[in-house]
Amino acid sequence: MAGLFITFEGIDRSGKTTQAERLAERLRAAGRSVVFTREPGGTGLGRKVRGLLLERRSEVDPSAEMLLFAADRAQHVNTVIRPALLQGKVVVSDRFFDSTVVYQGHGRGLDLDRVQAVQEVATGGLRPDLTVLIDVDLETVKQRWIPEDADRLEAAGDAFFDRVRKGYQWIWQAEPERVLRVDGRLPVEDLACRIYSEVRERLAGAVRPNG
Ligand code: TMP
Repeated sequence: MAGLFITFEGIDRSGKTTQAERLAERLRAAGRSVVFTREPGGTGLGRKVRGLLLERRSEVDPSAEMLLFAADRAQHVNTVIRPALLQGKVVVSDRFFDSTVVYQGHGRGLDLDRVQAVQEVATGGLRPDLTVLIDVDLETVKQRWIPEDADRLEAAGDAFFDRVRKGYQWIWQAEPERVLRVDGRLPVEDLACRIYSEVRERLAGAVRPNG
C-alpha cells in the first residue's frame, strides 16, 4: 500500500497538535498504519535541537535558527519520514517546511528564495501530499496562552505572529490543492470531523509511487 504524508501547520496555540493527534487516531481506527511525529524534535538529534531552539534564554541569530530547523528536518526526513512512507505507512507530522518558510522567512524576514533553497537540501525534495492549516486569529490564540509560559518563539510578539499568519495565508492561496485551510475557532470535535472527511476525500486513491 502506498504511503501518505500529511502535515499540520498553524501559529502557536492554534490547536494543530490536538487535531493532528485526532487525525492519527482516526486513521488508525480505520486500519491504516500511522506514524505520528513532529518538528522540531521527531528524532533523538531533533529533541536536542528543539531544546536549543526553544529555550527562552538562548540568543539565536535568524540564519542560525533557520539552519537548525533545517538540520532537524533533514534528520527527520531521512530517518523517520521516508522510511515510513516506503513501508506504505501514513505519516502525520506536526509541522514541516511551511513552518520555516513562515516563521523564519515571513516572520524573521529572511530571504524567501534562500529559505526555500535550504528546504530542498533538508527534504531532498519530499513534499507533503496534504497540509492542514489550522487558521486562527491572534486574539483567539492569546486567550489560550499564559505569557510567562511562552518559549523563545512564542515570546516573539504580535507583529511577528501577524507576519507568520499572513505567510500561512499566502501559502494557502498559492497552493490550494495541497493546503486545506480550516477555521481553528470551531469546537475540537467538529474540526476533527471536518478534517477527517476532507482527508478521506482528498486522499482517496492517492498514490505515492516512490516515497
Ligand atoms: P510547536 O510548539 O508547534 O512544537 O513548535 C515549536 C516552535 O518552533 C513554534 O513556535 C514554531 C517554531 N518553528 C519555527 O520557527 N520554524 C520551524 O521550521 C519549525 C518546525 C518550528
